[in-house]
Amino acid sequence: MRAVVLHGDRHVAVDEVPDARLPGPDGAVVRVERTAICGSDLHLYHGLQGAPGVHLGHEFAGVVEEVGAETHRVRKGDRVLVSGVIGCGRCTACMGRDPVLCRNGGPKVFGTNTALDGGQAEAVSVPAADAFALPIPDGISVEQAVLLTDILPTGYLGAQRADIRPGSTVAVIGLGPVGVFALQCAQLYGPSRIFAVDRVADRLARAEALGAEPVDATEVSAARRILELTGGRGVDAVIEAVGTDATIKDAIFAAAPGGTVSVIGVNMNFEFPFPLPLALMRRLTFRVTLASVPSTWEALVPLVASGRLQPEEVFTHRLGLSEAVEGYRVFDARTDGVLKVLLDPSR
Ligand SMILES: NC(=O)c1ccc[n+]([C@@H]2O[C@H](COP(=O)([O-])OP(=O)(O)OC[C@H]3O[C@@H](n4cnc5c(N)ncnc54)[C@H](O)[C@@H]3O)[C@@H](O)[C@H]2O)c1
Ligand SMILES: [Zn+2]
Ligand SMILES: [Zn+2]
Repeated sequence: MRAVVLHGDRHVAVDEVPDARLPGPDGAVVRVERTAICGSDLHLYHGLQGAPGVHLGHEFAGVVEEVGAETHRVRKGDRVLVSGVIGCGRCTACMGRDPVLCRNGGPKVFGTNTALDGGQAEAVSVPAADAFALPIPDGISVEQAVLLTDILPTGYLGAQRADIRPGSTVAVIGLGPVGVFALQCAQLYGPSRIFAVDRVADRLARAEALGAEPVDATEVSAARRILELTGGRGVDAVIEAVGTDATIKDAIFAAAPGGTVSVIGVNMNFEFPFPLPLALMRRLTFRVTLASVPSTWEALVPLVASGRLQPEEVFTHRLGLSEAVEGYRVFDARTDGVLKVLLDPSR
């Protein structure tokens, strides 16, 4: 079968690899109908994480082709979406839909190392399928299903964990697809103002169209501009959706006294220079979240099925899996009006 394989710095290829096989009696093989490229894949693409040989991708939905003897809830022929983050599937945390707290080895993300092959492929081996594969609910399209495997849940949890209340002021830093979803989920909580920060003009315009106040961070520091725009006070809630040291620091500096900083951007810096005195004097709450994807489905499925959220609007580019190299190039370059790239493994 074909899969997108990491070869090195800014080098991926669509390679012929061994077919996906049942990972064990609790697993399934899923034939992929649609899969997407994520900002998290770019960390591997840039050589900041992972190693050559990894089969990439953690956002996919498709048809169950085969199940193990101990897989009962999910059946052959079901159309499913699969959480990009999984755990053992058996511990109390996994049974409670919170694989990030898995007690048997912690969370695992598809397509980030060679132990769990990714979803940018014709088929995927899915362990613990009963716990982490969800039959696609009525009223949800396959494109919407792909967005329920990672980034809509991430944006939702970023907003939920930012303590936004009716009337709060909010800033969202980073307006990639994850930031766009954080912005839309922040709006579910009734804030009075949302500042939306990025450096790409079409992304700022999209946020403005969604009702946010754009802040172009190309020339000014986002934190300084947000302080100016709020009379020196800062915002009650900051959602960080980039993951660089600079933007996480900006998020902390933009928070008002008593405020909350909710980081969903991925940062792997063990030496992050946290400005503790500022957090102390302003009594800030700092949260960082790897998305426990299945925990959000109960809230998000009805919001999508009813049309209250229309996440598929983030897809600007729909390509065949055979065009994945170009998909990575354009998603990384942020040119051509790109926001999110969807891949179809039948092409
Ligand atoms: N926590 C989780 O579970 C989880 C899940 C999915 C993605 N993520 C992370 O979310 C982040 C965003 O993902 P995405 O798919 O939206 O990626 P993306 O690369 O499309 O978006 C990042 C955005 O940040 C902007 N940006 C970069 N530097 C900036 C700066 N200095 N100031 C302002 N804006 C800046 C970019 O222009 C871009 O629009 C990534 O770090 C990704 O790994 C986390
Ligand atoms: Zn992702
Ligand atoms: Zn577990």
